Amino acid sequence: MNKENFEPLIIAFCCQYCSYSAADLAGSMRLQYPPNVRIIRTPCTGRLEVNFFMRAFEKGADGILVAGCLEGGCHFIEGNLLARERVKYTRAFLSESGIEPERIRMIN
Ligand code: FES
Repeated sequence: MNKENFEPLIIAFCCQYCSYSAADLAGSMRLQYPPNVRIIRTPCTGRLEVNFFMRAFEKGADGILVAGCLEGGCHFIEGNLLARERVKYTRAFLSESGIEPERIRMIN
């Protein structure tokens, strides 16, 4: 595949209470998102562990997006805060391994 046609495979881990609902609503409204984005619903981003991210990279993901509830809005109190720390840890691990840490990002 040449550089011009490169379409990165993005795995989006979405909390079912916020971002997944938003994606679902977008689907109901017939809005489209790129086919190279694969959405995985999670009960809370706090359920995600570092090995989930590493496994996604191992299986071919080019980038990972973690989308959780706003700070103070997590249904499991601090799951999004735990996820933020795990994403931070993963970024540091990637960086130490010579891989771009920008490949994983959390939004909320
Ligand atoms: Fe949404 Fe925890 S319930 S991030």
